[in-house]
Amino acid sequence: VVPTVAWEDGAVVMIDQRRLPAEEVFLRCRDHHEVAAAIRDMAIRGAPAIGVCAAYGLALGARNSVGEGEPLRAEWQAICGELASTRPTAVNLFWAIRRMQGCFDAHAAEGGAGLRDALLAEARQIEAEDLESCRRMGDLGAGLLPAAARVLTHCNAGALATAGYGTALGVIRSAARLGKLDAVFADETRPFLQGARLTAWELLRDGIPVTLLTDNMSGFLMAQGEINAVVVGADRIAANGDVANKVGTYTVAVLAREHKIPFYVAAPVSTIDLATADGRSIPIEERAAEEVTHLAGRRVAAEGVSVRNPAFDVTPARFVTAIVCERGIARPPYDRSLQALAGDARAAVQG
Ligand code: MRU
Repeated sequence: VVPTVAWEDGAVVMIDQRRLPAEEVFLRCRDHHEVAAAIRDMAIRGAPAIGVCAAYGLALGARNSVGEGEPLRAEWQAICGELASTRPTAVNLFWAIRRMQGCFDAHAAEGGAGLRDALLAEARQIEAEDLESCRRMGDLGAGLLPAAARVLTHCNAGALATAGYGTALGVIRSAARLGKLDAVFADETRPFLQGARLTAWELLRDGIPVTLLTDNMSGFLMAQGEINAVVVGADRIAANGDVANKVGTYTVAVLAREHKIPFYVAAPVSTIDLATADGRSIPIEERAAEEVTHLAGRRVAAEGVSVRNPAFDVTPARFVTAIVCERGIARPPYDRSLQALAGDARAAVQG
C-alpha cells in the first residue's frame, strides 16, 4: 500500500505527490505551518487525505505549543483557522478539524501531555477509520460493477487521496481481487495530471493494468462500447446528492448518461455535507493560471491569453447512479438516502 501520510517521531510525513511519478520523495513537516503549506501547495491532495493530514497538523500544532489554558485555546483556534484556509472545496478537511475540535474540548481541562496525547490518538483514529472505510467501500462498490468491468475513472481517488486503498480506486482494487475487472481507463486530468501521474502510478505499482486517456477521449471510447462503468471519488456531496469532484467529472457524467453507462461515486460519510443543500452552495476553488498555461514548468499557452482554472465541478444528482459509502449504498432520491446514511451516525443502510 502506498504510504500517503503518517506521524513519525513528532513530524507529519507524506509522500510529495507533486514529484510523482518521477521521484518518490518524502516531506517531513515539523510544524503546522509546514502542514498547511503542504495541503495548499498540493504536496498532499485528495479529500480524505487532506482531512487526515490536517488532523495530524493539529496534533502537531498542539504539541509544539508551550501554552496552557486560555493562551493554548487561542493558539489552537489560530492553528485550526490556518489549516481550514488551505483549500475550500473538500469538506473532509472541515470535518476533520471539527472532530479534532471536539477532542480538544473534551480534554482541554486536562491540558498538558494528556491533551496532546489525546489529540494525536484522535488523528491516528481518523486515519485508521478512513483506511477501514475505503476497504469497505471498495468491496461494496465492486459488487455494483458488471462482470468483465471496463471502468473509467477521473482524477486520483486512490490510496494517495486517502489514508490508503482509495475510494474509486478502492472499488477498482476490490474488483481486481474478485476477478471482475477487464480494464481500467484513467483520464489524465488536466491541469494537475492526477490521472496520468498518480492514478497510473499507483495502479501499475499494484499490478493493475491501466490505460491512460486524455480528458477529451472518453466520449469516443464510450461510443465504441469500450467502457461499461464509471467510478469517481468526491470532494463534497450536498444533501440533495449533487457531487463536487475534480473538474471534468461533470463532463464524464453527462457522457455516461448519453451512453447509458452507470456513473458511480465512492466517498466516505465524511464527504457528505448535509449542511449544504445543493451543489450551487459548494465553494469551488480557483487555482493559479500557471497550472493551465504551463506544462511541467514550460509555457504552452499563447502569451497574454486569459485563463480560468476551477479545480472542481459539480455533477447534478440526476446523473449519479449510486453513491457508495462505508455504511452502504445510497440511491436516488438522495435527499432521503443520504440522510439515512449520514444523518444518524448509527444508521447502516444496505442497497
Ligand atoms: O485537487 P485534488 O487533487 O485534491 O482533487 C482530488 C479529487 O477531486 C478527488 O477525486 C477527490 O478528492 C476524491 S479522493 C478520494
